[in-house]
Amino acid sequence: MLRRVADDLIYLGVDDVKTDLFESVYPIPRGVTYNSYLLLDEKTVLFDTVDEREKEAFFANLSEALGDRALDYVIVHHMEPDHSGTLARVLADHPEARVVMTKKAQAMFSQFFGLDISSRVTAVGEGGTLSCGRHQLTFTLAPMVHWPEVMLSYESTEGWLFSADAFGTFGALDGRLFADEVPFEEEWLPDARRYYANIVGKYGTPVQNVLKKAAKLDIRKILPLHGPVWRENLSWFIGKYDQWSRYQAEDNEAVIFAGSVYGHTLDAAVRLSTMLSDLGISSRVYDAARTDLSDLVAEAFRAKVLVFASSTYNNGIFTPMEHLLMDLKAHDLQNRPWALIENGTWAPNSGKLMEEILSSLKNCPKLGDTLTIKSAIKPSQEEALKALAQAVASAAE
Ligand code: FEO
Repeated sequence: MLRRVADDLIYLGVDDVKTDLFESVYPIPRGVTYNSYLLLDEKTVLFDTVDEREKEAFFANLSEALGDRALDYVIVHHMEPDHSGTLARVLADHPEARVVMTKKAQAMFSQFFGLDISSRVTAVGEGGTLSCGRHQLTFTLAPMVHWPEVMLSYESTEGWLFSADAFGTFGALDGRLFADEVPFEEEWLPDARRYYANIVGKYGTPVQNVLKKAAKLDIRKILPLHGPVWRENLSWFIGKYDQWSRYQAEDNEAVIFAGSVYGHTLDAAVRLSTMLSDLGISSRVYDAARTDLSDLVAEAFRAKVLVFASSTYNNGIFTPMEHLLMDLKAHDLQNRPWALIENGTWAPNSGKLMEEILSSLKNCPKLGDTLTIKSAIKPSQEEALKALAQAVASAAE
């Protein structure tokens, strides 16, 4: 059964609750949606398609929504296959449709499908427009949110922003469509943050550029390519994007990541967390080996202060912690003070190596001295751990 964003705008998106890993890397136990919309104006306009793996439901939706009308336009905001996997078949099924896309998207279409569609393409750039009848669309480029060919569409009559990957989230909708129909802040926000941090997180500056453009528009609905449509409380979610893309912490909290082979490093992490609690600072400990990397990255984007506690392993950093640090660097995490605990039974070395990685992050100062554990923390090290806790607490307040 189809749902409508407005009388003349039909949601054609599909839930995917069978795929285990989004982009073959991020677990999606709550599923994901691939969103697509059909405008029934004087012209009929399809906004994006869906991943190939949910093509049956999508083509049924498209057929039902379109009825006996011809398809006039297909607007391609993003060529990543989760949105373009069924695009070639849409164009084959509707040879009358013109394709509105950027030149970069057109090149990517040829790369993915080996087809030349240049005779059907209306290439658009910044400020390009399309009149659909009652609705007028203006296109704005959004390079690197999350690929270079991305553009957004703004519909000026109703204030609709078709936002591509921006403002998306993991999570299947199960028949709901609007963000105000789900307990978003309580149940969806962690996955929205995880989606942002891991997929778009590296591109804070491009996201900021889009937010600056969006601030000049009268936006009354946000229609992303994943997750619910926003028609209420838009400024709250835009505010989250502003915080995330500025690499600003959301919570005055410390997160302690522990990479622990036999549990002794984890024990030191928990002791530090206990001291932080005594100091009135909220903290969480994560076992880096047993928490998905995407959750760890999201937590690093959320919390104000980060502590990395790692065993030495193969004369390097314990592998799960090394993966985390490299991923934080890859996502260009900024503005986070950090502290270190290293462990090594005969040659502790992880602290020096962790410091090398963390020192390369922008505006990420080190707190206190690295606490070195030889196999297990000793009662004689309690004062040093307290000093570290104090430094972390001061930065987290
Ligand atoms: Fe949802 Fe970048 O694709």
